Amino acid sequence: MAPSVFFLFLFISPSFSAFVAPVTKHHVHKTPFYTLKVQLKTPTEPTHLLLHAAATFTAVNRNSSLCHPKCDIAGGNCVISRHRSFARVDSLALPTTDGRNPGQLSTVPKFVFTCSDESAKLLKGHAKKVVTGLAGLGFSNYSLPAQVTTNSSVFALCLSGSPSAPGVAFFGLPGPYYFLPGIDISDHLYYTPIFFNTDRLEDGYFIGVKSIKVNRKMIITTPKLLTVDENGNGGTRISTINPYTILERSIFKSLIEAFRNESAIMKLKSVKPIRPFHLCYEADGLSETHLGPNVPSIDLVMQNDVIWRILGKNSMVRIVDEGLDVWCLAIVDGGRHGGSSMVIGGHQLEDNLLQFDLGRKTLGFSSTLLQYKTMCANFNFSTNNAISAF
Ligand SMILES: *[C@@H]1O[C@H](CO)[C@@H](O)[C@H](O)[C@H]1NC(C)=O
Ligand SMILES: *[C@@H]1O[C@H](CO)[C@@H](O)[C@H](O)[C@H]1NC(C)=O
Ligand SMILES: *[C@@H]1O[C@H](CO)[C@@H](O)[C@H](O)[C@H]1NC(C)=O
Ligand SMILES: *[C@@H]1O[C@H](CO)[C@@H](O)[C@H](O)[C@H]1NC(C)=O
Ligand SMILES: *[C@@H]1O[C@H](CO)[C@@H](O)[C@H](O)[C@H]1NC(C)=O
Repeated sequence: MAPSVFFLFLFISPSFSAFVAPVTKHHVHKTPFYTLKVQLKTPTEPTHLLLHAAATFTAVNRNSSLCHPKCDIAGGNCVISRHRSFARVDSLALPTTDGRNPGQLSTVPKFVFTCSDESAKLLKGHAKKVVTGLAGLGFSNYSLPAQVTTNSSVFALCLSGSPSAPGVAFFGLPGPYYFLPGIDISDHLYYTPIFFNTDRLEDGYFIGVKSIKVNRKMIITTPKLLTVDENGNGGTRISTINPYTILERSIFKSLIEAFRNESAIMKLKSVKPIRPFHLCYEADGLSETHLGPNVPSIDLVMQNDVIWRILGKNSMVRIVDEGLDVWCLAIVDGGRHGGSSMVIGGHQLEDNLLQFDLGRKTLGFSSTLLQYKTMCANFNFSTNNAISAF
């Protein structure tokens, strides 16, 4: 193709192959999780898939109608995958987008997924009625982003903390990302390198955190946060299936101690903690702003010195029960048994926009959108039919 034709093509089709989908928060037995809504099957049916930023495949529950009738290569409803197991093929449709609104639905006719009960295992069976499978956004040619976009190299997630107001996922769109009242969050991103454990791609996306600060004071600097060792232990990764951030025990203890010290200086009154949390405060004793309760800030300092700042709305979770109203530090002890040093979980991701750019190998992150007086639920989901795939 002549270069001039190529450029013309890009010029007249700014919405080329970019898609959007709502991401909804659910609670089952007090365990929060997030689902991505897509249209699967011919004719299409709305399907809610557990959002899994690390999974390399989309997996649909075996007993779903999507996994029936039986796999038939000649019938065209399945293929033999790289792992010599059978993978299903069906159509998947998503609304196109220009970053402001959803547009017309566009269909990927041959979307590849597996039939397995992965999501039921992850949710311990609690959410079968809500979830039909899981959406894999991990580093793989069969991930959902890779299959739905020609420009597979970029997708973005914005999780809402409210079950009644969904957040949003963008696929194949490097920006803009507009949130009411008209703020383009792609102008407010900081970037840090993203990397993978090539022996364990299913661990998903890692970022280089070199230290953690509490109230802007340096507290923890350990290479364990930054690097993954030859056994796959260490490092900091992002997980949409863990509701709260998990820290390896020694780092967890340092963080709790520093947070306790700083909150004592701020004269916050702690109360008996509610498991699985270790530090809780009476709601009455905390002042609140639009950024959440006023507690010590937690900064993740990246290897390139940019800072992901975690404020009250993301660091604390409110627990209201009979005669009880407390805020607890929503970070849990990962013990000593190895694994990643830090797993950044859903509560800490809410109302933050994360842009995964696999071409440039960078993570763009916004810190809390509340600082810009908007939030993940403020994407305008009214359809604009003038937007379509090319
Ligand atoms: C799959 O199984 C679960 C429980 O075992 C049930 O609630 C659900 O309705 C089943 N789905 C289908 C499509 O059969
Ligand atoms: C995707 O496929 C290309 C071409 O076959 C290959 O070079 C690349 O490594 C694959 N990517 C992943 C993540 O498997
Ligand atoms: C594809 O994504 C890259 C960023 O990774 C961006 O620079 C480029 O403009 C995108 N191409 C299209 C056609 O959207
Ligand atoms: C917390 O305060 C105690 C007592 O003042 C002090 O010994 C300790 O070093 C402090 N810990 C951190 C992590 O700042
Ligand atoms: C949401 O988008 C629709 C379609 O473009 C538009 O008509 C409407 O004014 C937007 N809503 C707000 C609050 O801007």
